[in-house]
This record gives sequence, structure tokens and C-alpha cells, in this order.
Amino acid sequence: MPESQEKAKQNAAIAGAAMVLHGMTVGLGSGTTAELLVAELGRRVRHFGLMITAVSTSERTSDLAKLAGIQIVDPAEIKTLDIVIDGADEIDPQFRMIKGRGGALLREKIVAAAGHKRIILVDQTKPVLQLGTRHHLPVEIAAFGQHWTLSQLLKLVQKVTLRTLPNGMPFITDGGNRIADLHTGPILNPESLQATLLAIPGVYETGLFIDLCDVLIVANSTNVQISNRPKPA
Ligand code: A5P
Repeated sequence: MPESQEKAKQNAAIAGAAMVLHGMTVGLGSGTTAELLVAELGRRVRHFGLMITAVSTSERTSDLAKLAGIQIVDPAEIKTLDIVIDGADEIDPQFRMIKGRGGALLREKIVAAAGHKRIILVDQTKPVLQLGTRHHLPVEIAAFGQHWTLSQLLKLVQKVTLRTLPNGMPFITDGGNRIADLHTGPILNPESLQATLLAIPGVYETGLFIDLCDVLIVANSTNVQISNRPKPA
């Protein structure tokens, strides 16, 4: 990652961490930006006595958070979260997103849905006019019957790839599922595509995150811009 992008993510993470107040229940996202957030929250816990209770969207974030001194609890113990902070792969002007490049999308979506206030941290490369212009759309599917599920997905888009590790073995999510990456091209109607995908047996969740960002923090290496989700027209 270029140094300026790392700095941008760091700036977004610091702005996000400043929104976490003493006593809050916090949902922690996954990915490089969320990891910088975890580091900054850990610093505040250790140096300023910030007390929070957190749930995490991935095993990796859990491990990093515990190392940083953040108390992580089983999500089953918490019904709602005061604040959820995560990154995104693409975000459009209506704050609809593509997430899941790290493969944590199912847990990320459950945690986002449980949040009262959802904050998204991105560097300046992530905002797009239309979703699907830069990234594939990740879809979490069951391992059981995966080839049939992939064939159904292929009826909807130009190309579908089962995500693999560098050694060629399938990528397995923390929940034991698989990820299909859909080559959608620009997505004309994210809501309709979401409904169509979820109707396929074997599809657990999609990387389309709609109505799950309340506050967007976009940073570059020198500036941070904070915006609330635009009201529907
Ligand atoms: C993880 O599954 C993803 O949803 C990440 O939140 C997303 O890919 C953003 O990642 P970076 O912060 O690493 O760009």
C-alpha cells in the first residue's frame, strides 16, 4: 500500500476512534483500516483509561483487539451496539457500499445491522459514483452444493470466481463458508440485485451493504471529511 494511502487510512481511523466514548458497546470491523482503528482504540484504552466492550467481525480483528488491550465479548452476549466502525471497498453517493474483500462480510453485516450508529472509514480511493465499477462483488455461500450455487450466480453476471488462497485451496471464511466473487460491472440497481442474490439457496449474504452507513469519514493524507448519510429524496 502506498505510504500516502496508509496515512489516509490512519487519519480516518483516528477520526473514527474519537467518536468512541467511555462505556460504549462497540462493533469492530475487519480489514486494514479497521485494524488501524483497533490500534488507536487500544492506545486510548491503555493510555487514557477508555473503557469499552467490543464485539468483532473476524478472528483476526479479535486477536488484534485483545493484544491491544480491548475487551472482546461473545456477540451472543450483546443485543445492540452503540457504535459500529468498519471500512469499505466502494461507497456511492447514497452511502451504499460494497464490502467483503477480506471475506468477513457475513459477520460484518450482522454487526452493522446491530449498530445504532454505523461509521465507515475510507481513504479517498473508495468513493465511487456507481457500485461495481472497481471491485468484484463478494457473496458468501455455503460450501454444501457450492458448484450448483455458483452456476446459479453465473446466470446473473458475466463471470463468477470461487475465491482461493495463493496455494489454490478454497478461501474459507471464519464461519466455514466460501466466497464467490461476482464480476458484475457497474451495478444499476443494488437493492434489486441484493434481493435476487439472497433468493438463491446457498447464498448466505452479499457484499452489498445498503442503509448500513450513517456517518462516512473520508480521509486523505492531510485532511478528513465527515458526512452524515444524505436523506432519501
Ligand atoms: C472485510 O471483509 C472488508 O469488508 C473490509 O472492510 C473492506 O475490504 C475494506 O478493507 P480495507 O480497510 O483493508 O481497505
